[in-house]
Amino acid sequence: MSNSGFIHSGEEKKGQVQDMFDGIAKRYDFLNHFLSFGIDAYWRKQSIKTLKLIAGQTLLDVATGTGDQGFSALKAADVHVVGLDFSYNMLEQAKLKIEKRGLADKFEVIQGDAEKLPFLDASFNALCISYGIRNVGTISSAINEFYRVLKPGGRISILEFSEPQGWLFGRLYRFYFDHILPKIAGMISSQSAYTYLPESVRHFPDREDFKALLSSEGFDEVQHRDLTFGVTTIYSGVKTD
Ligand SMILES: C[S@@+](CC[C@H](N)C(=O)[O-])C[C@H]1O[C@@H](n2cnc3c(N)ncnc32)[C@H](O)[C@@H]1O
Repeated sequence: MSNSGFIHSGEEKKGQVQDMFDGIAKRYDFLNHFLSFGIDAYWRKQSIKTLKLIAGQTLLDVATGTGDQGFSALKAADVHVVGLDFSYNMLEQAKLKIEKRGLADKFEVIQGDAEKLPFLDASFNALCISYGIRNVGTISSAINEFYRVLKPGGRISILEFSEPQGWLFGRLYRFYFDHILPKIAGMISSQSAYTYLPESVRHFPDREDFKALLSSEGFDEVQHRDLTFGVTTIYSGVKTD
């Protein structure tokens, strides 16, 4: 447990994370766009590009939340999206958006755990997870499941916050992330959820360690690409056999 009381791994973390997202679901989209200055749409698009989606394919969007990564995929290609998340309230928001956009035949959502995916082996052509992997209880268990449910030749794209590496931008970022963002979020939603955010980014493995983990779970062609001075990173890989 950290000084602020957050648990950063294991089963106990899962309960804490699920409650947190259930609590902020209604304000989540607004805060996401507001606190990222709207750049998140660009980050999502870049992450989806690495999947090289083809019409007719099936994509699993793990930790889909309110569905924005799935919507980004549907803008790129005429695929079928399955969005999975363990937060009931986040999925309710996703469902409202799916209905409103008339995408019910293209995008279905399922409540479930990223570490115990309710799908058969080799079910999906592609898998994405945006700002979700940092929140799971045991990262290696989730990656193992991602590998299992992908078909041979299937691609994975993981979008996650990173610590920027440049000295000046790194300092500005830390000031914004640690001091400004939790205060603004606290006025609109939950301060504790947005105190957890920078803390969880710090607990997440660094780029090389995370790529090593993807390789050790079986992924090939593992690469990373930093976006916006390294605030966010796309990790990609392929299941070759
Ligand atoms: C920061 S939100 C990201 C939502 C969405 N992917 C996006 O980009 O806006 C993280 C999501 O991960 C979900 N999550 C965290 N751990 C999970 C787990 N073990 N299984 C399923 N969903 C999980 C949370 O419920 C939450 O909706």
